[in-house]
Amino acid sequence: MSKRVAVVTGANKGIGLEVVRALCRQFEGDVYLTSRDRERGQQALQKLQQEQLKPLYHQLDITDRKSIGELCTFMTHKYGGIDVLINNAGILFKVADTTPFAIQAEVTLATNFFGTRDVCTELLPIIKPQGRVVNVSSVSGSRSLLKCSPELQKKFRSSTITEEELVELMKKFVEDAKRGIHNDQGWPSFAYGVSKIGVTVLSRIHARMLREKRAGDGILLNACCPGWVKTDMAGPTAPGTAEEGAVTPVYLALLPEGAEAPHGEFVSNKSVQKW
Ligand SMILES: NC(=O)c1ccc[n+]([C@@H]2O[C@H](COP(=O)([O-])OP(=O)(O)OC[C@H]3O[C@@H](n4cnc5c(N)ncnc54)[C@H](OP(=O)(O)O)[C@@H]3O)[C@@H](O)[C@H]2O)c1
Repeated sequence: MSKRVAVVTGANKGIGLEVVRALCRQFEGDVYLTSRDRERGQQALQKLQQEQLKPLYHQLDITDRKSIGELCTFMTHKYGGIDVLINNAGILFKVADTTPFAIQAEVTLATNFFGTRDVCTELLPIIKPQGRVVNVSSVSGSRSLLKCSPELQKKFRSSTITEEELVELMKKFVEDAKRGIHNDQGWPSFAYGVSKIGVTVLSRIHARMLREKRAGDGILLNACCPGWVKTDMAGPTAPGTAEEGAVTPVYLALLPEGAEAPHGEFVSNKSVQKW
């Protein structure tokens, strides 16, 4: 049997780096720190090596299909698949950023939603039985859901929404933002929040799909919020530490073999939240 392997996206800093650090200590198998920029990734790797930890490295830009494909091929050949996948990579335009909203919407959705979806499209088929998939979403998604029109809320809470329908809604948000009509169309003015609605709903859809198509494989897939923690994204005034931000993603990544829940949930502080 191939060695077990865990992969963390966007892991050169912040929560992703802390997830790699924790998995190096707790996961029995190889742990891959991935980053879009090789140099930043290597620097992070060296930091952990100085602590006598032994993460491995692979490049991954989640907005680049070629880069995702190369990681997929590598994992398939070397390990016969992936045991743990943590989709952590994400971006946020700061409140003070003056980039036009339409661009913020397009760029944010391209990474947080469409990039994460592309990774899932490529890598979910190679998740091994008893595998664990964790999509780092945010309570910003839950809060933004409450700011959507009742009609949109109903769609995002539906237990029968398809991936194609979700993708069309996410594309529509970007198009509505470009036309300056997103508020009229029932969307909030917070691209990051909408992107994280997408990540949470995508997780619910993929969990359903796994239950239907790979029922006997025991794979558990969940979305989570890491909490509001000090990173370059959240800034120095956030209450928690990046290390604390890794706790819930790592808990979901290490759900014991044979566990049947949580699956298809949105988890915060290690507990299932209402969507
Ligand atoms: N911090 C919080 O309070 C908080 C709260 C809720 C949710 N989250 C979520 O937690 C996750 C990690 O956030 P963080 O606070 O650790 O942010 P961060 O310190 O800004 O780190 C984000 C990571 O994502 C990487 N990334 C961005 N675009 C990428 C791409 N196209 N391909 C691969 N990697 C990419 C960044 O790489 P570069 O260094 O190359 O930019 C960086 O490694 C995000 O999904 C975020 O939305 C954070």
